[in-house]
Amino acid sequence: MKLAVVGTGYVGLVTGTCFAETGNQVTCVDIDVRKVEKLNNGIIPIYEPGLDILFNRNVEQGRLTFTTDLEEGIKGAEVIFLALPTPPGEDGSADLKYILKVASDLGPILSQYAVIVDKSTVPVGTAEKVHAHIADNAKVDFDVVSNPEFLREGVAVEDFMKPDRVVIGTKSERAKTVMNRLYAPLVRQGNPVIFMDERSAEMTKYAANAFLATKITFMNEIANLCERAGANVDDIRRGIGTDSRIGKRFLFAGIGYGGSCFPKDVQALAKTAKDFDYDFKVLKSVMEVNDKQKVKMLPYVMNHFGSDLTGKTIAVWGLAFKPYTDDIREAPALDNIRALLEAGAKVTVYDPEAMENVRNIMGNSIVYAHTQYAALDDADALMIVTEWPLFRTPDFDKMNLLMKNRVIFDGRNVYELDQMREMNYTYYSVGREAVTTPVEQKA
Ligand code: UDX
Repeated sequence: MKLAVVGTGYVGLVTGTCFAETGNQVTCVDIDVRKVEKLNNGIIPIYEPGLDILFNRNVEQGRLTFTTDLEEGIKGAEVIFLALPTPPGEDGSADLKYILKVASDLGPILSQYAVIVDKSTVPVGTAEKVHAHIADNAKVDFDVVSNPEFLREGVAVEDFMKPDRVVIGTKSERAKTVMNRLYAPLVRQGNPVIFMDERSAEMTKYAANAFLATKITFMNEIANLCERAGANVDDIRRGIGTDSRIGKRFLFAGIGYGGSCFPKDVQALAKTAKDFDYDFKVLKSVMEVNDKQKVKMLPYVMNHFGSDLTGKTIAVWGLAFKPYTDDIREAPALDNIRALLEAGAKVTVYDPEAMENVRNIMGNSIVYAHTQYAALDDADALMIVTEWPLFRTPDFDKMNLLMKNRVIFDGRNVYELDQMREMNYTYYSVGREAVTTPVEQKA
């Protein structure tokens, strides 16, 4: 099939590349001239494991091309994906200006029937708005379909190629047939394509993300209670996760969820609820708890060192909002670094992928170490913010020699308590008792 993808951000690029991989002819359109130039020169602007192999293969074989010209890009396309940003406005609602602008532009240049697909996460009712904006100037038949994307950063290609399910919101039989044909190669293993109306599809995406954010937040609150009640959240997770009604995944307590989706989507769904005059109490709590959870380790730091951290060096391992990405949107690392700096500390940081992105925001206010160990040189304590596998089994002998004190504030529970006790560490984690040792000087 011939497809167009408008918007070459995270979702657009993965969508375009993966559909080229299943044999379609894909043209990606973006207004950003420099980005399109880069893509045409084989440079992928995001870090996503596995994307490069598919990207290079499909570009080489001529199935994946890039342009800044919308009219040229959509020429002959049976399906046109809209994968445009929906940044949160002042009040938390998703801003639709990019999507609606493209919808208005599409009307007059559509020359044959096409299915226009909303891939971006958009509020309930958007498909109708997109339809109206295109219809204003359209001369041909078209359908607007809502097809939300559920991919996770870091495993986006796998999620796209083997989706748990595909959700398609449309009442048009013609559009259903087109979408079924397009997704057939991705659901061969038997996972369902679920058809519903446009509004339900739009709501499904928010419900999925808000549910997962709630699941994490619930565990974070259980963890906070465990710390007070002398229980261990790791055991609770195993104890409840084995109940198939609850499920094992997304039960890891930590210093809050971040990223480009959960915070934004929970906020947007809360705004939708408000618009429909519904008091969605659970969502309000989720947002409130998560804001606090992100900086949960700070009181431990202050209790340990006092509230004035002048003269102290705190090393931070992990800046990205989660492992396998360079994305620092809504990352707890930034809140923690800012608070540590404000309290007078010197902060040295290391992350395998996200250093440049943080440098663009934090500039020279912190020290960027070239290895995880270099960050520990003369550090008074280590704070772990992102659970990169690299941090799980470090060379502790090397760490002990480098650090001034054996003190770790672990926001992601990457070490076992016994392991920390044996090595005489003072160790604060989430939802587990604090390990404190009388001796924390260098051995
Ligand atoms: C998420 C959804 O999973 C995806 O379906 C949607 O399309 C976009 O949003 P993503 O933002 O890439 O994907 O990250 P995800 O892996 O879901 O993690 C989100 C956040 O939750 C991260 O900050 C992560 O650290 C946190 N998290 C996740 C936990 O704190 N505990 C967990 O058990 C799982």
